[in-house]
Amino acid sequence: MIVGGSASRDLAERISKELDCEFAPVERERFPDGELYVRIPEEIEGEEVAVIQSTCYPPNENYMELFLLLDAAKGLGAEKVSAVIPYFAYARQDARFKPGEAISLKTVAKLIESAGADEVYTIDLHAHRIESTPDVFNIPAQNLTAAPLLAQYASEEFQLEDPVVMGPDGEAKQWAENAGKAIGADWDFMVKERLGPEKVEITPRELDVEGRDVLVIDDIISTGGTMVEAIQILKEHAVKNIYAACTHPVLGTNALEKIKMAGAEEVVGTDTIPSKVSVVSVAPIIAKAFTQ
Ligand code: R5P
Repeated sequence: MIVGGSASRDLAERISKELDCEFAPVERERFPDGELYVRIPEEIEGEEVAVIQSTCYPPNENYMELFLLLDAAKGLGAEKVSAVIPYFAYARQDARFKPGEAISLKTVAKLIESAGADEVYTIDLHAHRIESTPDVFNIPAQNLTAAPLLAQYASEEFQLEDPVVMGPDGEAKQWAENAGKAIGADWDFMVKERLGPEKVEITPRELDVEGRDVLVIDDIISTGGTMVEAIQILKEHAVKNIYAACTHPVLGTNALEKIKMAGAEEVVGTDTIPSKVSVVSVAPIIAKAFTQ
């Protein structure tokens, strides 16, 4: 049975259709003091239940709803409760960068476990200092990737010619590689080189991109700054058309406009976060993970 939290209701319905399994509605109310109330009005004793809830804006609210739903599912006697968190907030603080900080990623991981999750699924988790998702949790955890689906969508929809899939920085290498391989295209990532105290050069690492279509792919577009910088540099290398793709379209104020102004023909994202550019659904990836 699929339970859809309010941040991922449509995605949850898509997953239940993919899996041809029941979709449980959720009752959700708010108390006068701002507290959240949730109820799963279903009999799920002995069933396997997946709670789908992205922790996009507002993350604290969405996490609280997730915790309550996990506890509710467990309390109803579900045999196994899976937490599917397509956009996983607090992942960036995956270390103590300064003394006195929390490792927020681990803090929320503990809360997810104690709320009742038996296993966890994430998608393109932004935790660059963590080797693998299972290192974060004490329960089984799997990090799925949407990069191949994004590349397939872009390749077909935009009829990419002699494409190069490009990560806008070294951290995006994994997504560029997965996406490039999925469509049989060359892939690369951009590197920053400090040439002097005030001079930084960013270039594609080794590929010749002149005259080619480029798909720039990242996990998150937030302010759009990373994409804009990458696009500006690619234009200096006389590329043909530039397209931007990301798994999680956080899309802060004017991010889309800035990227289009910089020269991207189109911007595409997935439904881990519902947005104007969420044209690729991650439902098939999640459904596949459940059936493997
Ligand atoms: C950074 O490590 C991430 O992978 C993204 O590149 C970053 O979050 C994008 O943020 P922005 O759109 O604000 O540049």
